[in-house]
Amino acid sequence: MSSNQTLKTTLAGFHLGSCLMNASGVHCTDENELSGLLNANVGALVTKSCTLESRTGNPLPRYANIPNGSINSMGLPNHGLAYYLEFIEKSQYLHNKIAILSIAGLSKKENLELLKNADKADSIKLIELNLSCPNIPGKPQTGYDFEASEKLLAEAFEISTKSVGVKLPPYFDMVHFESMATVLKKFPVAYVCCVNSIGNALWINVENESVVIKPKNGFGGLGGMYIKPTALANVRMFYSLLDGVDIVGCGGIQNGQDAFEHILCGASMVQIGTTLWQEGPACFDRISNELSTIMQQKGYATIDEFKGKLKSMN
Ligand code: SIN
Repeated sequence: MSSNQTLKTTLAGFHLGSCLMNASGVHCTDENELSGLLNANVGALVTKSCTLESRTGNPLPRYANIPNGSINSMGLPNHGLAYYLEFIEKSQYLHNKIAILSIAGLSKKENLELLKNADKADSIKLIELNLSCPNIPGKPQTGYDFEASEKLLAEAFEISTKSVGVKLPPYFDMVHFESMATVLKKFPVAYVCCVNSIGNALWINVENESVVIKPKNGFGGLGGMYIKPTALANVRMFYSLLDGVDIVGCGGIQNGQDAFEHILCGASMVQIGTTLWQEGPACFDRISNELSTIMQQKGYATIDEFKGKLKSMN
């Protein structure tokens, strides 16, 4: 990285050394993976979305690499809340990075219980409430139900004294962007992460005429290059609709240019999923260097100089 360029950012009031981090679900399920992120070139890390008790998740194979992307139906395999609370407690003084706890209760009651328990842990500074897991058979994505989202957030912000951000599913309709923004404006959300995978996609192996993952007859969340235009649209829309709320961009970031585009649309931070899965934590060095080079070529010393400044055509 050139000495003039810095990837420093601020998220929910926390000053972070880099605008890059992992996406929840990737390289963050067990202590080994999480420690790898603590040592990686990231400004923050987020845990695997957890439930109160540990879960084994959906049957294998439940993740497949596809050309320039991925499809998954993990089903929230995780070690349970206590495991992640303990990891964050142990690691909080070790590295100058914030560790975000991601939670994904399977019901409103479980989400509120997760928040209640997390509230007791001093080491928890920031929580990502996942409203968008598409992979639990029989459970809809909360973020597509605006009334249920509002009810959950109303109780969540009653209970929690922590900073709480939300991870949203991708939206595709202007009315839906506005409906969710109207809900979010009622609460002090710490940040909004756009987007989770595009739910219930289908990838086919033509050679054997089969789906490529086992759960849900092959239906799973799509990640990687295919979802970047949708992710950028969601970042841009929520950046425009939610004045002053930090946006975290997630979806299709394979290189520095992809990260640059997310920031141009308004992201303060970018999360990397599929690429991290495929390359491991070394991807953060590569993407940091690529982003810095683009900034240098364009004469930007900080990300704030171009964040949100996407131009419209007159
Ligand atoms: C999963 O565990 O199924 C993925 C989680 C998510 O997409 O939120």
